[in-house]
Amino acid sequence: MKITKLPTLKYGTIWEDPIKGHRIGCLDATNKKDVIKLMNGRKSVLAIQDPPYNLNLNKEFKELPIKEYISWSEKWVDNTIEILEENASLYVWLGGDIKNGLQPLVDFVLMMRNKPVKLKNFITLRKQRGYGTQKNWMSVRQELLYYVKNNPFFNVKAEYTNIPKILRGYYKTVGGKLTETMERSKSPYIRAGNVWVDIQQVFYLLEEHVEGCYTQKPLKAIARIIDASSNKNDPIVDFFAHSGSTLLQAEISNRKCYTMDISPIYCKITLARLLHYRNTGKTGWGRIKIIKNEEIAVNDEVLLRG
Ligand SMILES: C[S@@+](CC[C@H](N)C(=O)[O-])C[C@H]1O[C@@H](n2cnc3c(N)ncnc32)[C@H](O)[C@@H]1O
Repeated sequence: MKITKLPTLKYGTIWEDPIKGHRIGCLDATNKKDVIKLMNGRKSVLAIQDPPYNLNLNKEFKELPIKEYISWSEKWVDNTIEILEENASLYVWLGGDIKNGLQPLVDFVLMMRNKPVKLKNFITLRKQRGYGTQKNWMSVRQELLYYVKNNPFFNVKAEYTNIPKILRGYYKTVGGKLTETMERSKSPYIRAGNVWVDIQQVFYLLEEHVEGCYTQKPLKAIARIIDASSNKNDPIVDFFAHSGSTLLQAEISNRKCYTMDISPIYCKITLARLLHYRNTGKTGWGRIKIIKNEEIAVNDEVLLRG
């Protein structure tokens, strides 16, 4: 049956996907009862969290005093750790304001030292475009913290990029024979490592773009995380859905996603993005102005059909 009208997800409601079992809740990540309601008795092997970065971005994202921001963060962190499986991965997208002593990144990392998870890596997604200036280095980084609860699965194959290895000349004697790097390597391609240089940030010319979602994360980055840290049909979670990138990539990668956003607008966008993809095969709305002044600016027909 074709859906022609999108439901409005008011605070407290959950949309359950009859096809693949995803769940989208209009809920509060800092509220334990809301998180339990979203999870419906399930646990997750992988959480990909992208909270607001404590910046004055627009009328929705405001800067809080750092102590307040950290105690707010602690609540969603505790709620997340509680619904993770015994062995699980927790990825957190976050930023540090260079003009403000790298808050909240630094404060967040310190707070996390007291939690029952371990920092396993610190990944930087190297953007292709940045804030240019003649008086400073260009800012081109997006940070991604990788924490583990105990000893989760890690699929190293997910790490390989399609960038060919070009640097030769590391010689080593193996079995009495002098070998060169390429002869010894497992793959002709480089590993992504913890600086990802092969992922285009989302901008208006890309199909996956959702106009008005300023903090949208690239599907390719989420695909890499999902491939590295979950198996087919594992439920994954994202408590800050926004444009619904984690949910959409979960659909594409054959995982279930349990996601929420406190804002009914972004819950609707998240649901619309999934259904639009199922209807059209498109991953976003490209240049169409979906959101203006933090309100949805188009009707359901456009959201569903493009
Ligand atoms: C940085 S954005 C997430 C971007 C997302 N990863 C994407 O790719 O589009 C943060 C989102 O968190 C939501 N949010 C803020 N406070 C929240 C809370 N307490 N519970 C759930 N969602 C919240 C905001 O409405 C916003 O959509």
